[in-house]
Amino acid sequence: MSLSWVEIDLDALRHNYRQATSRLGPRTSVMGVVKSDAYGHGMLAVAEELVSCGAVFLAVSKYWEAEELRRHGIEVPILVLLGCESDQVEPALQSGIRPALFRMDHARLMSKTAVSLGIHAPIHLKVDTGMGRLGVPVDRIGGFLDELLSLPGIVLEGVLSHFAVADERDKTFSDRQVDRFLEVLTMIAAKGWELPYAHISNSAGILDLPHAHFQLVRPGIMLYGSPPSTELHRPAQLRPVMSFKSRILQLKDVPPGQPVGYGRTYVTDRASRIATVPVGYDDGYFRALSNCGQVLVRGRRAQVVGRVSMNMITVDVTHIQEAREDDEVVLLGSQGKERITAEELAELCGTISYEIYCSIGRHRHKFYLNASRSCLDRLRPGVV
Ligand SMILES: Cc1ncc(COP(=O)(O)O)c(C=O)c1O
Repeated sequence: MSLSWVEIDLDALRHNYRQATSRLGPRTSVMGVVKSDAYGHGMLAVAEELVSCGAVFLAVSKYWEAEELRRHGIEVPILVLLGCESDQVEPALQSGIRPALFRMDHARLMSKTAVSLGIHAPIHLKVDTGMGRLGVPVDRIGGFLDELLSLPGIVLEGVLSHFAVADERDKTFSDRQVDRFLEVLTMIAAKGWELPYAHISNSAGILDLPHAHFQLVRPGIMLYGSPPSTELHRPAQLRPVMSFKSRILQLKDVPPGQPVGYGRTYVTDRASRIATVPVGYDDGYFRALSNCGQVLVRGRRAQVVGRVSMNMITVDVTHIQEAREDDEVVLLGSQGKERITAEELAELCGTISYEIYCSIGRHRHKFYLNASRSCLDRLRPGVV
């Protein structure tokens, strides 16, 4: 029995996938974003489910993630958002891994490698339409395209960009990004190139910007059950995929005036019952939740009191008389009618749900619930 564990509900993942696809027209496909261990949910199991749901592409950040997907038999094309290092170009091209392209020296190397292998190099060109981060700026795309399309072996399979503020209520800037993206697509068409995939929409774009779906969309956070923000015009009915659970390790009745935890930051003001729960910041439970987080015990909320330490928290369960040692404690997820969401934890920690999932998702003990039959058959031992 683990002291604490993370549960991943793959039925909820499938539900969220359907929520995404229900917003898409018949000509738009899904590139499931499974970077950063599928936002902490476990890249291999999530990728298997997404592919069985119908995702035609997957996106990761780093080449080794794509390699790992291939090693586990995932065959769909994979986009590496951060591109590939020079020594990764040849194996990438040989295994259908598509590096995002944003530098001409990378393009030349890919062309040379493709020619020497006698194959084509399908690439996705990253365009900066206003994020100001990775990508060829729109005002320099003309010259870039001229050289790119003249390189032997290069096949421009996709053009992508990324929204900066699609999750905000005001869509003025996102619409400007779409316009710049369209300019690039028009330029490509004018050069006589028939582009298979244009893609710019993340979860917020899928939900709120139907005119920006093009041939491919890249949902991340909505697949994992969180809205990209609270400002959406057309939110979806999503189901959280991740839960984080533990047990009461010890229950203690203490008198008024008892300090609790490092720094004695909490002192009981009445006779109290304190539960020690074996979860701490090493398990991804942020230290910022000291004296403000809540957990669920016997279907009721209980306050974290004192500091979150590396491996333990202390919780005031005085009002839950029926609480017992070994009772389940829910730190993220639902119990009875109550639920602790990643948004609630994020708000308390001054961050976003994405970071909560990535942090808790690093937990060593992860259990997958409701895997589809086809995924169970394909997953090799040790994956779930
Ligand atoms: C390039 C790119 N596309 C798509 C996504 C998915 O975004 P979201 O999780 O907001 O749907 C991300 C995530 O950060 C990304 O970096």
